[in-house]
Amino acid sequence: MAAKPSAPGGPATTLVPTAGRVGAMATAAVTADGRARVLADGNEIPLLALGVWQVPDGPECVNAVRWALELGYRHIDTAQAYGNETSVGRGLRDSGVPRDEVFITTKFQPNRKDPEAEVQRSLERLGVDHVDLYIIHWPAGGPTWAWPGMERARERGFARSIGVSNFSLAELDQLLSDLTTPPVINQVQFSPFEFRRRLLQACEERRVALEAYSPLGTGRHLRDRRVRQVAERVGRTPAQVLLRWCLQRNLVVLPKSTHHERMVENARIFDFTLSAEDMAALDALDRTGGTDRALEHNWW
Ligand code: A2P
Repeated sequence: MAAKPSAPGGPATTLVPTAGRVGAMATAAVTADGRARVLADGNEIPLLALGVWQVPDGPECVNAVRWALELGYRHIDTAQAYGNETSVGRGLRDSGVPRDEVFITTKFQPNRKDPEAEVQRSLERLGVDHVDLYIIHWPAGGPTWAWPGMERARERGFARSIGVSNFSLAELDQLLSDLTTPPVINQVQFSPFEFRRRLLQACEERRVALEAYSPLGTGRHLRDRRVRQVAERVGRTPAQVLLRWCLQRNLVVLPKSTHHERMVENARIFDFTLSAEDMAALDALDRTGGTDRALEHNWW
């Protein structure tokens, strides 16, 4: 992705380290407009993405992607396993937003054999010549076997950055001991209720940025009484509070919605700050014990 701001608001080239937000954790560099993070490989990733998990291929997905881009989102997160890459590509073209202003992620489906061959199929479906980020969707068959194919995908220019998803600290460390190009991303389920503090801290120490999928708990966390109390106190919606918490914990957030008004709501998270007290109240909702695992129960 070109070094451009993800929404109006000035140049994105000056980097500012974020304050130490999780104890003694290493700091992450964000762009001057506060909307993108600089990855360990030097590429910039917009902090807010539209997630399209479970959005069926077809008009619903095309519209969601087009609306998001029209609203100023500059990052779309799809996957081979979602079956909707064709619609993501269509939505991108329909939006009229230039390709080089949009960050596109797709994920290698690891019950297939060859990441390098599969990314080329993804590119055909998406109608683009590269993706910005290509990640192993889950560590099926172990954390290391697919990595050489991921590296080849990057070397051949099919993906600008490469990373992983659903990797625990142990799996990440296995991979890191066995490779030439380190992953720059680990995408995991993350929210105040899944505050994987040890995983987050270890990833930051290894210069691996964490991305939060299901930051709204697939909608469940929006109804929580304590989240609603914080939202009332700060005059925001529960969704905005949950997403803002992720930003202040150095995460890239991927809320999923197919509703225009919710996309608008979910994008209004850069113009307020949660106090230390509100952050602590949300931190206390964690049910994982601050784990370094990626999930409480693997689904693969
Ligand atoms: P929908 O797609 O019908 O708008 P998560 O991002 O944690 O996976 O959560 C996604 C779920 O939360 C979806 O069911 C989505 O519904 C819903 N959702 C997304 N944004 C909002 C919002 N601002 N208010 C209420 N529900 C939302």
